[in-house]
Amino acid sequence: MMLLLLILLAFPLPSRTFIVIKRGTEARPHSRPYMAFIRFINDNHLWRRCGGFLVREDFVMTAAHCHGRNMCVILGAQNIKIKEATRQSIPVLQAFPHPEHSNISRFNDLMLLKLKWKAHLNSAVKTIALPQSQDLVGPNEVCNVAGWGVLANGNCSDTLQEADLEVQHKQTCENVTKYYNNSIQLCVGNPLHRMRAGRGDSGGPLVCKNVAQGIISYGYKKKIPMIFTRISSFVPWIHKIMNVS
Ligand SMILES: *[C@@H]1O[C@H](CO)[C@@H](O)[C@H](O)[C@H]1NC(C)=O
Ligand SMILES: *[C@@H]1O[C@H](CO)[C@@H](O)[C@H](O)[C@H]1NC(C)=O
Ligand SMILES: *[C@@H]1O[C@H](CO)[C@@H](O)[C@H](O)[C@H]1NC(C)=O
Ligand SMILES: *[C@@H]1O[C@H](CO)[C@@H](O)[C@H](O)[C@H]1NC(C)=O
Repeated sequence: MMLLLLILLAFPLPSRTFIVIKRGTEARPHSRPYMAFIRFINDNHLWRRCGGFLVREDFVMTAAHCHGRNMCVILGAQNIKIKEATRQSIPVLQAFPHPEHSNISRFNDLMLLKLKWKAHLNSAVKTIALPQSQDLVGPNEVCNVAGWGVLANGNCSDTLQEADLEVQHKQTCENVTKYYNNSIQLCVGNPLHRMRAGRGDSGGPLVCKNVAQGIISYGYKKKIPMIFTRISSFVPWIHKIMNVS
């Protein structure tokens, strides 16, 4: 206990900014039919939003730090303020945060949400493929993210925003935090374009060649890059949860 306290005192948590697709552009409606909008009540009794993505008719993947009470998933949405005809709102039956998720290192920041009923798949609601264990995304690969997070003006976005981001060399993230492990995380950003994701986007997918390779985990205020969970490192755990649930 004392040791833990000392560690906490010695290494105060950086202010978690979660992540905003700042300077992104509005996505073409339903061009990302796997995107899920997630609402929940956090430990401080506040409503929070996260992104997520449909990986099976009855499972949405997101970040473990998006765990909370009264979790609900909205699929088929473009503007979350409008009751669009394509929209499917489904409560979460059970949440499976990764058992080794750490609030300190933030390693293993992924969660599966078992939906109360199966999503009805159509042109506005579709699943996205997950990677195989051996799929390694490397530096300079250009991928994209999407979300309903905070915009550059500080307001939350009602419409889905998207941005292209580039996978960075691991050294870029190792320079920003000692809690970076390239075998289970991805270092993502584009220092030149200064595009990043922001609060409310976390949990959303990093999509490379139509495969969800990463989950937006966190970033540091005004610092690029951001750190994503590397999904290909968790394939056995994902299969275990989805096969028995
Ligand atoms: C870690 O996060 C979980 C899930 O949000 C929360 O229940 C728990 O209280 C947190 N622990 C600490 C030490 O902050
Ligand atoms: C943010 O939203 C509020 C409330 O909708 C609005 O009054 C304000 O003008 C918005 N800010 C910007 C910078 O767009
Ligand atoms: C990491 O930091 C070192 C030392 O400050 C610097 O030489 C190097 O260029 C940095 N690498 C990256 C990729 O930012
Ligand atoms: C990175 O994570 C892997 C998988 O959990 C682990 O085996 C390895 O020891 C970690 N590396 C470091 C430097 O902590």
